[in-house]
Amino acid sequence: MCGIVGYIGHQPAAPILVEGLTRLEYRGYDSAGLAVLGSRGTTAVRRVGRVRELQAALPSRLTGKVGIGHTRWATHGPAVEQNAHPHRSGDGRISVVHNGIIDNAATLRTQLAQDGVTLLSDTDTEVIAHLIARSEAETLEEAVLDALSRITGTYALAVLDERHPDRIVLARSGSPLIIGIGDKEMLVASDVAALVRHTNQVVHLDDGELATVTPAGYRTFDRGNSPTTREPVEISVAAEDLELSGYPHYMLKEIHEQPEAAAMVLRGRLDERFATARLDGLGLEPRELRGFRRVKILGCGSAYYVGQLGAQLIEDLARIPADAEAASEFRYRKPIIEPDTLYVAVSQSGETADTAFAVEEIKRKGGRVIGLVNVVGSTIARTVDGGVYLHAGPEISVASTKALTNMSLAFALLALHLGRLHDLSHADGDRILRGLQRIPEQLEEMLSRAAEIEPLAREIAKARSAFYIGRVHGYPVAREGAQKLKEISYIHAEAYPTSELKHGPLALIDEEMPTIAIIPDDELAERNLAAAEQVLARRGPLVAITHASVGLGHLDARTILVPKNEPELDPILLTIPTQLLAYQVAVLLGHDVDKPRNLAKSVTVE
Ligand code: F6R
Repeated sequence: MCGIVGYIGHQPAAPILVEGLTRLEYRGYDSAGLAVLGSRGTTAVRRVGRVRELQAALPSRLTGKVGIGHTRWATHGPAVEQNAHPHRSGDGRISVVHNGIIDNAATLRTQLAQDGVTLLSDTDTEVIAHLIARSEAETLEEAVLDALSRITGTYALAVLDERHPDRIVLARSGSPLIIGIGDKEMLVASDVAALVRHTNQVVHLDDGELATVTPAGYRTFDRGNSPTTREPVEISVAAEDLELSGYPHYMLKEIHEQPEAAAMVLRGRLDERFATARLDGLGLEPRELRGFRRVKILGCGSAYYVGQLGAQLIEDLARIPADAEAASEFRYRKPIIEPDTLYVAVSQSGETADTAFAVEEIKRKGGRVIGLVNVVGSTIARTVDGGVYLHAGPEISVASTKALTNMSLAFALLALHLGRLHDLSHADGDRILRGLQRIPEQLEEMLSRAAEIEPLAREIAKARSAFYIGRVHGYPVAREGAQKLKEISYIHAEAYPTSELKHGPLALIDEEMPTIAIIPDDELAERNLAAAEQVLARRGPLVAITHASVGLGHLDARTILVPKNEPELDPILLTIPTQLLAYQVAVLLGHDVDKPRNLAKSVTVE
């Protein structure tokens, strides 16, 4: 989704802004632009399409040493040049880039128009530039505060003013904004990916906070213009983590990073002596954890499906009622927040607006909420009462893979920890712990056989539609499998509990409708096989993602074999072939795997 970059220092700003915008491309966008302040005022260039098109359109002599840039993902108005950021005041003095949504933009636009202001775009952002320019305040900071007092909504803002070329003013509310500290130069970005080439010292602005950055430093303040204290922190992301490193796509790279990522989320968290997990970041004492009577997991999209898997792990191991719900729906159904429920927000980016709003709602009503989050210092990570970082490393591909695997592993750790505080025996705790220890190696083994999926991918690539089916532990795997295929191959895919097939969807089975069946070696294997036979009897092509011990030899099905772990942990491994299958199908169909159409990496608007 939208991305912000900014630079002020001793070097020409434009190349640094372009490089930063390129780093943010993975988030998904439809247009890009920048404004650079030089000795002859502001030069602003905007283009629909890729950052490279913006770069090609830049004048050759653009030497200004302060500037802001933006990648836009259309919300208010179509992806056309006049809607791309930066937006400027009528006299061109003020330039603004903005992430988020201004809720009262329509009212403000009407008021501005009545006051004789000509609005040049369809966007909500443009009103901010006009409001700042029309403020009678003396300083840029006060003018920005004036404008903010009139708007409602979410924003991360970076503002340039020709009258104050020595600074960029920033403001944050509900959308991330980070300052990168350099040597006599300062950077600004909505995502650390745009900063890592330049610095590992960053300052995360808090909601309701503003900042002024100059080449020499930064100053943070609140909405009342009183100073706040915000110390720099060190980030551990290296520039190489954001490179393709020889892979054709980030998605494939990230699929192959899973053994290492899995080892990272487990590292230091398995306690062999007490057969439990050590989760110091939870911030909850054993006594408090024992007091929870229910667990409610909230996430969106694939994170929600992993949440379902997490709920099953918690019920299986801790025997506490647990369920997962789409965070996007939660806030709107007037949820009852219970003091003896542990709420768990799960998110790769930590910026998904629907999940962040659900967290706020729970906190407002006094609930305890922990986060399973990948991006350190992200909005959700900073809002929750405690949590478990996923340590999957940066995930660039829009379709999530390694972060999801690490979410499942983090849920397994949480379930083990809760289980051992409840009824889970030492022996069973040890069994799960040993199972977790085997996962990185089993992932490695599966990925070494990735080529085996290619013939299947060729068949699925011909389909217009596909079913993914699974029961109990296999059902979240089926949901995630269908999601992955849809997202990147644009083939319609639907997930059903296998048991539901005969209650309706079986009517759609024919030679052209493949079914991908998740058939683990568990107590439901027989029933799963019976359903597989029903599909085959209707001439439906069948792909079984299964364990060698299930034995599908008598069936005319293609099989993808997955190494066996403990039944509670098997879904984690059963998911991997669905990633590879979706990836290979999308490549065969010639799609832009890492940037699927209409999708963004982190969905920072509702
Ligand atoms: C699917 C996918 C999305 C995200 C969802 C939540 O591959 O990436 O469905 O899982 O948008 O995003 P996060 O985890 O960042 O909250």
